[in-house]
Amino acid sequence: MNFGIDDLPVRDELRGKSPYGAPQLDVPVRLNTNENPYPLPEPLVERIAERVREAARNLNRYPDRDAVELRTRLAEYLTDTSGHEVGLANVWAANGSNEVIQQLLQTFGGPGRTAIGFEPSYSMHGLIARGTGTGWISGPRNDDFTIDLAAAEQAIAEHRPDVVFITTPNNPTGNAVPRGTVLSLYEAAQAAKPSMVVVDEAYIEFSHGDSLLPLLEGRPNLVVSRTMSKAFGAAGLRLGYLAAHPAVVDAVQLVRLPYHLSAVAQATALAALEHTDTLLKYVEQLKSERDRLVTELRAIGFDVTDSDANFVQFGTFADSHTAWRYILDRGVLVRDNGVPGWLRVTAGTPAENDAFLDAVRELKKEQDKS
Ligand SMILES: Cc1ncc(COP(=O)(O)O)c(C=O)c1O
Repeated sequence: MNFGIDDLPVRDELRGKSPYGAPQLDVPVRLNTNENPYPLPEPLVERIAERVREAARNLNRYPDRDAVELRTRLAEYLTDTSGHEVGLANVWAANGSNEVIQQLLQTFGGPGRTAIGFEPSYSMHGLIARGTGTGWISGPRNDDFTIDLAAAEQAIAEHRPDVVFITTPNNPTGNAVPRGTVLSLYEAAQAAKPSMVVVDEAYIEFSHGDSLLPLLEGRPNLVVSRTMSKAFGAAGLRLGYLAAHPAVVDAVQLVRLPYHLSAVAQATALAALEHTDTLLKYVEQLKSERDRLVTELRAIGFDVTDSDANFVQFGTFADSHTAWRYILDRGVLVRDNGVPGWLRVTAGTPAENDAFLDAVRELKKEQDKS
């Protein structure tokens, strides 16, 4: 008997939907999920082992429910790198920024409420909205993937969403959102509802510009979310965090599961934060590789969206899936995000990027022939 999801009494809004699923294929060069290509340095691996061994001695006990030491170190990191004073009371941490976003939607969204994002953008904002019963509104972008401010303000005024997502630098397009646009959208969101504005800065360490953390001053309905998955090279750790007014941190406690952040995750993240300087050294290298990809892709003849992230969107293709397959057949996995005509490549090591550039040079020759 064929028994599937549709035979179960699942929620109506989940019927016929697909889960998040970037392919995890075993190919020589994987440039499809915006990971950092550099493994953690050996001294940090040693420090993680030490910290986890200490934590293991207390695994009979639940972990620190409020992750005080970790949040204190994250607050110090944010203050040091942004020049904006952030304290323990402003910071909350969870299992990846995906969980941070889920907790925010559980707190400020939910049944009968809505959230808006300006698409194409990070697909999980919409998927987590669906998972939390929050209605999803797809807001507009211009053809060059910048946010169409007038149309966005109009959409906010019309739909009066409870949560507004602004991803900067944006994924999958790579471009940053100007500070003035974020300020205007915040004002529009307050005038319409007021609603929470979540600035997703997952890639901010790779940006040519500054973090928007200083905008938190005097804006209690603003949240900045961050992750250790990208710049810190610790995607496997699953550690995301947010900075906001202390009232926001108090509010998300209402929905977080008790002891959600394991003692092992807290110990590992604390070890990584002791090595911030070494980890962020790779960021400079990745930024210059990202800039090289932009320059070389343009020289080959592709259209490329300006990038402030550790990845680059390039095109255009009559059929992006066929182009994706062509590159994959040459041993390089990039991402087809479903943006018609465009593909996305993550900046890897210089050798990985060379392999990618060789593959797309061949692709371009094929394209030009036909
Ligand atoms: C814009 C954006 N936000 C959040 C995330 C989720 O990151 P995490 O690994 O912290 O859950 C990603 C991951 O790709 C992302 O692109």
